[in-house]
Amino acid sequence: MILITTAGKVGSEAARLLARQGEPVRVLVRDPNKVTALTQAGVEVVAGDLEVPATIDAAMRGVSAVVLVSPAIPTQELNVVDSAVRAGVGHVVKITSKASADSPIARRRAQTEIENGLIASGLGYTLLRNNAYMQNFLMLAPAIAGTDSFGSSTGDGRVGMVDTRDVGAVAAAIAASPAARAGKTYWLTGPDRLSYADAAVTLSRVLGRTITFQPLSFEEQRDAMVRAGLPPVVAGMNAQALALFAEGDSDWVTDDVPTLLGRRARSFERFAHDYASAFSVASGQPGVSMGRTTDPR
Ligand SMILES: NC(=O)c1ccc[n+]([C@@H]2O[C@H](COP(=O)([O-])OP(=O)(O)OC[C@H]3O[C@@H](n4cnc5c(N)ncnc54)[C@H](OP(=O)(O)O)[C@@H]3O)[C@@H](O)[C@H]2O)c1
Repeated sequence: MILITTAGKVGSEAARLLARQGEPVRVLVRDPNKVTALTQAGVEVVAGDLEVPATIDAAMRGVSAVVLVSPAIPTQELNVVDSAVRAGVGHVVKITSKASADSPIARRRAQTEIENGLIASGLGYTLLRNNAYMQNFLMLAPAIAGTDSFGSSTGDGRVGMVDTRDVGAVAAAIAASPAARAGKTYWLTGPDRLSYADAAVTLSRVLGRTITFQPLSFEEQRDAMVRAGLPPVVAGMNAQALALFAEGDSDWVTDDVPTLLGRRARSFERFAHDYASAFSVASGQPGVSMGRTTDPR
């Protein structure tokens, strides 16, 4: 049995793929009513909360491998690591980012704390240190659908964005067959390094209408996110991460996805095609046009 700790973007894709291959797979979720599609796909769904170790222990019964993916709050993910140790789990695939103990971004420092705890646990592990997700653009979709434009403080910085469906596929493949991947770190990216202006060009081509990228200053970016409802601390952290994009911090790609999956990584063009309806159906919130920007890690 493979346990996936949450059913967000990466977790639900990994669960769906494993179920399709006939692997016994279970997801821990706070609200099973939100994931009826996974139940119908043959995934076992258990109610739990990463804040509550007893619920993790219940989900961990009979588990051989875990895909550890969540908002990456150290106490919560280390609760999973502790539970996996108690249950004698063989392997943990940890979804992480460009983790670093001295990163200016708190989320990346948190990822380091979790990675270190996992390594110290003695469990078999694989780290998937992913570049920014293409699906972050879905937060910009209401603005793009409503105004044909989006803003960001990423400047000319290029990003080796990866599709979360590819991250889920890699996590599923390793969880199902971890032996050769134990103790390894992979850096998952898409095939291209794109600036947000490049992304606007691709979106324009795919959607068949002109989509405009509006450069924002750090302050405009932070204030827009606050206006869109993010707490000021989170808005500041996200704006900080986007400023790092502008400096080239995410301007890297690897061959890890094709090497691990034996096929090409999905391109941003493919992503734009597959999610075209999200960028085309106005969801009635023009006020978010420059606000709900990406959540880069
Ligand atoms: N965004 C990026 O560009 C990026 C890049 C590289 C790496 N990453 C990493 O990717 C990971 C996030 O993956 P994702 O984007 O697939 O996640 P996601 O779509 O944001 O989903 C997170 C899930 O966690 C669940 N959750 C939150 N708190 C929980 C709790 N206490 N107990 C149980 N479930 C809980 C949420 O469920 P509810 O419905 O209950 O809220 C949600 O389904 C993080 O480690 C992040 O650092 C992200």
